[in-house]
Amino acid sequence: MSNPSDIKKIGVLTGGGDAPGLNAVVRAIVLSARREFGLQVVGIRDGFGGFVEADGTLPLTGPVVRGLLWRGGSILRCNNIYRGDPARFCEAMKELELDGLVVVGGDGSLTIGAEMAKLGARIVGVPKTIDRDVVGTDTTFGFDSALAVVSDACQRLIDTAESHHRVMIVEVMGRNSGFIALHGAVAGGADVALVPEIPYRVENIADVVQARCAKNRTYTLIVAAEGAAPAGGDQVTQGSDHGRVRLGGIAEALTGQLAAILPHQVRSVTLGHLQRGGTPTPFDRVLGTRMGTAAVAALMAGESGVFTALRDSEIVLTPIEVAAGKQRTLQQDDPTIATARSVGISFGD
Ligand code: F6P
Repeated sequence: MSNPSDIKKIGVLTGGGDAPGLNAVVRAIVLSARREFGLQVVGIRDGFGGFVEADGTLPLTGPVVRGLLWRGGSILRCNNIYRGDPARFCEAMKELELDGLVVVGGDGSLTIGAEMAKLGARIVGVPKTIDRDVVGTDTTFGFDSALAVVSDACQRLIDTAESHHRVMIVEVMGRNSGFIALHGAVAGGADVALVPEIPYRVENIADVVQARCAKNRTYTLIVAAEGAAPAGGDQVTQGSDHGRVRLGGIAEALTGQLAAILPHQVRSVTLGHLQRGGTPTPFDRVLGTRMGTAAVAALMAGESGVFTALRDSEIVLTPIEVAAGKQRTLQQDDPTIATARSVGISFGD
């Protein structure tokens, strides 16, 4: 490992899509870097884009990060489109006299960070995503805040669905992972959870509705992950954006399919980016603060090419390769699946 005593100035960037808690991480990095180690901190704007843009940096001082703990979004802004050349970013780090860089991002940004580390830059990653789909960490900040939005929506939707004897479908994010849908269904008291990892059959969902009717339950709430798909069928997509498939539309599609075979009124809501904005939950503020301070400590300990994973409540420095280019999905033996089944939640399988 390189000698960290020559670290005087570090950078931080927030790559990929935004997630509640990003600002808490940036604040923690700035506060601990300055207080503990007397470092200068520079923010790189627009993900890696700030390395190549004019005015792409923002000096981060105590006053700049004041009040950031509970602010959604990222003061550094995010970018999940721009990728660029890791060698060019290493050059930019030299031009900016950055002795280390904290990359806050999902698997895409962490992968770029790993390549920069191989080229000799000191890089520490902090995993971020509402989807919780980063391999090697128990969870990511942003997930808990997204979950709070989903469970609040479920309670509101049950109120109205119950009043009208309706079937209500709420579509949630998560890409190809069902964590938000599964945990949202459990937290929100849903009757059906559709997740990408368990193919569903429309007839099975209709059976759940009919069985509930027979027991005088006046509504059925279905939480559908945007990436869920029927057995033998495909995910519902909305074309692509900069070469990436955009998932979405399952709630509307399912509304038509259920309305065709059930006598009930069926309605749907897509939560979309409501899950990404807003103030982070206390859990995400604490996790973001822990990860930000741990990233600075890791750089000062001479670490590079690692990210701050949460395992069994501890922050464990883990090689970025563990997460790079991979997506964590629900395992069939995930205990929360068994919990959900045990309280009567159907997966439509
Ligand atoms: O990865 C976070 C996420 O919100 C996914 O859950 C979702 O599929 C995707 O990003 C949406 O991306 P965009 O904001 O680019 O439409």
